[in-house]
Amino acid sequence: MTAATAPTVSAPAPLTDLVAIRDLDRAQVDDLLAVAAELLPIARRERATVPTLRGRIVCNLFLEDSTRTRLSFDLAAKRLSADVVAFTAEGSSVSKGESLLDTAQTLMALGVDLVVLRTSSAGAPVQLARQLDIPVLNAGDGWHQHPTQALLDAFTLLQHRPILEGARILIVGDVLHSRVARSDVELFRLLGADVTLVAPPTLLPTDVSAWGVTTTADLDGVLPDLDVVYVLRLQKERMHRAFLPPTGEYAATWGIGPARLASMRPDALLMHPGPVNRGVELSSAALEDPRCLVQEQVTNGIAVRMACLYRLLAGPRSEAAREVTV
Ligand code: NCD
Repeated sequence: MTAATAPTVSAPAPLTDLVAIRDLDRAQVDDLLAVAAELLPIARRERATVPTLRGRIVCNLFLEDSTRTRLSFDLAAKRLSADVVAFTAEGSSVSKGESLLDTAQTLMALGVDLVVLRTSSAGAPVQLARQLDIPVLNAGDGWHQHPTQALLDAFTLLQHRPILEGARILIVGDVLHSRVARSDVELFRLLGADVTLVAPPTLLPTDVSAWGVTTTADLDGVLPDLDVVYVLRLQKERMHRAFLPPTGEYAATWGIGPARLASMRPDALLMHPGPVNRGVELSSAALEDPRCLVQEQVTNGIAVRMACLYRLLAGPRSEAAREVTV
């Protein structure tokens, strides 16, 4: 290889919005995860808040129920010293029939610098991003995408396994209704993992053959060989009764309880995006198992969301955690 053809390390392309994992390339993912690692001590409160986004206004526009994602974005913005305005459908003019675009234009007129949007309407964040001059960050849209969940999942896995190339990851449960599954599959594959899906037949999407994954019906057959078992929440609010096996039957057939824990490798990792239906997807024993990363996922979510806010609103990586307030 001559000097002229030698690879050069170039800065990742700047982010303008974050709507879907497929909009990111590998360099942008690596960069966001590296920024999150720098910011983790601040997210964990081992280091003080930084003034990086002082004077910037982040609007959390949450039009669908959320606890951890909303709190996580709120804390992430505050750890970077941004001002946060919270906006929920209830009690706002959205409940009086105002359209999303009208609401967003009002937010711009109020001087908001970035909108974090959670909505039950798949595709709404991409529409909003086209219409607004400020960055839009998708915090979950319908069954479609939840990019910061995928980034925090990859970040958490990488803390335990520095390379995901070749890792065998199983995603189990309600794939059909899951924006987490759609986002995680795209990101885990981008990072080189082999992804297998196992789901009740009624909860497996019909287009799954285009996802680049393997599917199996044999959960117990594959469990002993896996590096990661990623368990999805049963999204009862998104399904009609016909989809849903009785809870006890679901737990026995698809849930992770003591017998399945025993058949997992000692160094396997167990994940779930939360909120967990305890005793359905994961037993109490699974939640208490040392291989279970659910709490780490929540804490890491703050650092990853800080990195996303930072990349959408501020300058180069080296400045992310530099100025420490005392
Ligand atoms: C996920 C979501 O809302 O898509 N949860 C979350 O962001 N904390 C997963 C889920 O609700 O099942």
